[in-house]
Amino acid sequence: MDKPENTFLSSPEFLALQRHFETVSDFKMRSLFDEQSDRFNTFNLSAAELTLDFSKNRITSETLPLLIDLAKSRQLPEAIEAMFSGQLVNKSEKRPALHTALRHFSDEPILVDGIDVMPEVRATLTRMKEFCWRIRNQHWRGFSNKPFTDVVSIGIGGSFLGPKLASQALKPYWGKNINCHYLANIDGSNLTEVLQGLNPETTLFIVQSKSFGTQETLKNATECRQWFLDNGGQESDLPRHFTAVTANVDKAKAFGISEENIFPMWDWVGGRYSLWSAIGLPLMLTIGHENFRQFLQGAYEMDVHFRTAPFEQNMPVIMGLLGVWYINFFNAQSHAILPYDHYLRGLPAHIQQLDMESNGKSVDTNGHPLDYQAGPIIWGGVGSNGQHAYHQLLHQGTQFAPCDFILPLMTHNPVDHFHELLVSNCLSQSQALMRGKTLEEAQEELKAAGMSEDEIAVLAPQKVIPGNRPSNTLYFDKATPKVIGALIALYEHKVFVQGQIWGVNSFDQWGVELGKQLGDQVHDALMAERDADISKDFDSSTLGLINAFRNMKNKL
Ligand code: F6P
Repeated sequence: MDKPENTFLSSPEFLALQRHFETVSDFKMRSLFDEQSDRFNTFNLSAAELTLDFSKNRITSETLPLLIDLAKSRQLPEAIEAMFSGQLVNKSEKRPALHTALRHFSDEPILVDGIDVMPEVRATLTRMKEFCWRIRNQHWRGFSNKPFTDVVSIGIGGSFLGPKLASQALKPYWGKNINCHYLANIDGSNLTEVLQGLNPETTLFIVQSKSFGTQETLKNATECRQWFLDNGGQESDLPRHFTAVTANVDKAKAFGISEENIFPMWDWVGGRYSLWSAIGLPLMLTIGHENFRQFLQGAYEMDVHFRTAPFEQNMPVIMGLLGVWYINFFNAQSHAILPYDHYLRGLPAHIQQLDMESNGKSVDTNGHPLDYQAGPIIWGGVGSNGQHAYHQLLHQGTQFAPCDFILPLMTHNPVDHFHELLVSNCLSQSQALMRGKTLEEAQEELKAAGMSEDEIAVLAPQKVIPGNRPSNTLYFDKATPKVIGALIALYEHKVFVQGQIWGVNSFDQWGVELGKQLGDQVHDALMAERDADISKDFDSSTLGLINAFRNMKNKL
């Protein structure tokens, strides 16, 4: 039997939005603000200590109800329930996606194949707590009986970006004794930089890999073990210095990690959703168990909000729907994440993986090619640095990128009136994106500066800022563990909302496999003894590049 065709574009809900778009697409946000003095309060909502100001969007009071109709027609309410209750929402891999179980604070059981996963989740949390307590309180020490001073987390992708973001974001909560380093890339320079200055006697390694089969992670772990053995450590000391987090215990054991040092994760947790599991160990080691619990608590509060709040007041739903509005109606290709907080500088990279690996798909879950746009390009960086770099394109470029400004109202480090300056930069950017500058305003400015009519005629159009460029501002009192947990969970759910609306599976990532497969072939060619041993199957470009590398290697 034929699978049902993709009917997204022809659905009555999509067509209703299309008609609405045609009436409102020319509206200017400037005028909407003039007409609606309480627009800030109308398009504003709070959940789990976060507040979302979404008033600077190209929406009227009719837009959200229509978007919500679309979400309902795409079975979003059913999908949310299916995800939280452990149904097989990751259909291509026949698995649930239960990262929410990792921060589940209620007594309700969560069943996978009829078995409640919560006892195992809680037992692992207890093991993590004990492990961190022993390290932080210097009961578990290195081979020369010195306390640990440094932790190296070895992992890539989801086993890297999430924990790195969270531990960076929560640096003010780090204990004094332990420093945390991340080793991800298969790059000798990365390895050298991380190990430089570390003392093997006081360094603990955590090998983080759900599959325990990722080339970069295994190679880095092997090299770190060798460095440890070459610098005073003995084979018998390895269990004190090497731990692992994985769903593949046998492989970790085969690698030489002792079983009691292996923390489990489960196949129902996707890599990019795994920082709430034992993959969060480096975070717990630095901020301590209590703060880690607060981090989980923040995410849990966002989960409860997402699961129970009506869509009109549901933050992840609204953020997801606004994204759909711009991508599928205004043809936006990208979305910028702009945190105005030094500690949140890792946020764009984490959201980039979360969003692009989840929704960077062009076939739906029934196997039909999409005839509409899905996941956007996610990019961004910390403000105000970005204002002196890529914000130019945001203000005047031919590309159109909705933005999320992320802003703590209080800083961890008050210095003079730095924070007021940082905040004023953030608020004035979203204001400028919304207002822009008209031709008349540009002409007036130039006239006031004493320019001639001819000069004004050439320069004024170049100084016009179109404005009407949408943004959200997400703000909170302070970047506490609870707030950071809620913030990351918010984006996870936003991505899920969009994936459901587009009909893609947000929990698989087949696209990354091909590069891995071909990588082995290329590696064999780079290492081949003789040119004649290189497979003739390469295209001329790849072969030319392989030969360039081999020629250079032969000269060394
Ligand atoms: O790059 C693809 C990916 O599979 C990510 O989804 C994952 O987080 C990463 O590789 C690392 O995988 P693992 O934790 O199994 O080493």
